[in-house]
Order: sequence, then C-alpha cells, then structure tokens
Amino acid sequence: MKSLPLLESVQHLEKASWLDPAIKTVNRIVKKAVPQRDVRDLLHGVPLGHPLHPAVVQLPLGAWASASILDLFPGNEKTSTLLVGTGIAGVMPAAASGLIDWSKAGRGAQRTGLVHAAVNAAATSFYWVSLIQRCTGHHRAGKVFSAIGFATASASGFLGGHVAYRQGVGMSRVIDIAGQVPSGWQRVTTLDSLSDGQLAKGLVGETPLVLLRRGQTVHALVDTCSHLGGPLNEGKMIDDGDPCVECPWHKSVFSMRTGGVVHGPATAPQPRFETRIVEGTVEARLQQP
Ligand code: FES
Repeated sequence: MKSLPLLESVQHLEKASWLDPAIKTVNRIVKKAVPQRDVRDLLHGVPLGHPLHPAVVQLPLGAWASASILDLFPGNEKTSTLLVGTGIAGVMPAAASGLIDWSKAGRGAQRTGLVHAAVNAAATSFYWVSLIQRCTGHHRAGKVFSAIGFATASASGFLGGHVAYRQGVGMSRVIDIAGQVPSGWQRVTTLDSLSDGQLAKGLVGETPLVLLRRGQTVHALVDTCSHLGGPLNEGKMIDDGDPCVECPWHKSVFSMRTGGVVHGPATAPQPRFETRIVEGTVEARLQQP
C-alpha cells in the first residue's frame, strides 16, 4: 500500500537539518530548567517502569475532546468552559514529561518531536483564546477557537504517534530478548579472562552481554541499553554499594545485580542473566521474569 502524503511529509521532517540549531537551543533550556536528576527521573517515568508522557497527555486531550462534544449541543457552556480550562491546566505536566524524553532522543526523533511540541503550543494558544472568549461571554467565538485547537491538537497527536511508534522514543529496545537467546545454561567465557571490577563484553548465542566480575561472582546483563540501544560494556562502572553500569550514550544507570533502572532516561530494566562457574568457565542463562 502507498504511504499517505501526510506520512511522507512527516518522514521528511526526520531529515530536516535546518531544525538542528533550534533543537540545540531548546535542549540547553530543558537542561537548565530541570537540573535535578530525581525530578528528571520522575518526568521520564522511572518509578513507573514506563514513560510518564503517554499517561499525562490524557488529561488535556480528554478534557478538550469532551469540551468539543459538549459544544455540539446547546446549554453546556459552563461545563465546556470548565473542561477547556482543565485541559489547559494539564498542559504543563504533559509538556514537561514530553520535553524531558525528547531531550534524550535520537536526532531524527528530535526533529519530529520539536515540530510536535510547536504544534502543541499552537493548540494550547487556541484553547487560551477560547477560554478568554468563553469567560467574557463570547461562547460562539469560544467554540470556534476550541474547534481549531482540537484540530491542531489532533494533528500534533499524529506527530507524537510517529515519534513513539515509528521512531521508537519510549519503546524498550530489549523487548524480544527472550525469543533471541538460546534456552538453558550457555558458555560465555572463562573466569580468568575477566578482570575483577571491570566491565567486559560477552556473547550468548548472538546476544551481546555486559559482564562484571566481583571475585568468584559474575554479573551479566544484556549489553544493548533498553533506552536507545547504547553498548553498556563501553559505559562506566559505578559502585556506591550496589554495582551499576552507566550507559555511554545518555547516562541511564542500571544495577548489575538486578538489571533494574537506577536512573533514566531508560524506564525499562535490562534483562538479567543468572551465572555460574563450571571448571573455570562462566555460564549464563536468561533469568525468566
Ligand atoms: S541508549 Fe540512551 S541511555 Fe542508553
């Protein structure tokens, strides 16, 4: 089937390098606005184990969609005004979580995402005008601006869907691991080939692992970062009591013992392997969830 012209223009956006200077500026602003790592983790959705953004966009979109339906029938002016205002109040958390995810996305997704954010800002402006019109008794004009805002927000939703589902922002890169790894215990390497306290790379079948030896114990996780696929074995070892690996690409931190996310932008844990030493050989098998 041939692609829709709309989809083709969205795909062109991914290559729009003229957006890059604006991306750099907005990135700098986001970094300065949210310097605290705990707040960034919260906005990414680390405590949820899932991106926060899709959950918090429900409030503005749901409120505005409900207002649009009520606007079709007379006598709902008060409720519609309340819903338009509620949607505007919900924009801030939606924008903050979206921008934080966007700041750690790949360049193509950042280009589409920047346009998504700009179209959202336009939709919000239309709703502000609608709210002012409604609050000053001009309900007919308020309904018109809401309708324009809703059309704009829907176009933005199309762009947001492209960023998430086509460009993979927020999707786990290790979702299919269980289907790729041979089952049962597999030979990885020899214990002697691993330096104590240093990250190393191993293989189980075709799947790369990041390994960490601590004495006679070896910790093993899938090497491909769940965020955007960075090679964890090239990252940094952090040990504040719990040995962790920091991804070299966007600095997500995972516990080497459990695979759990300690810091985002990743929200999905790294699949973990159980290990054992058999006559000097390190063997691993995928831990079932
Ligand atoms: S690829 Fe982004 S944190 Fe690892």
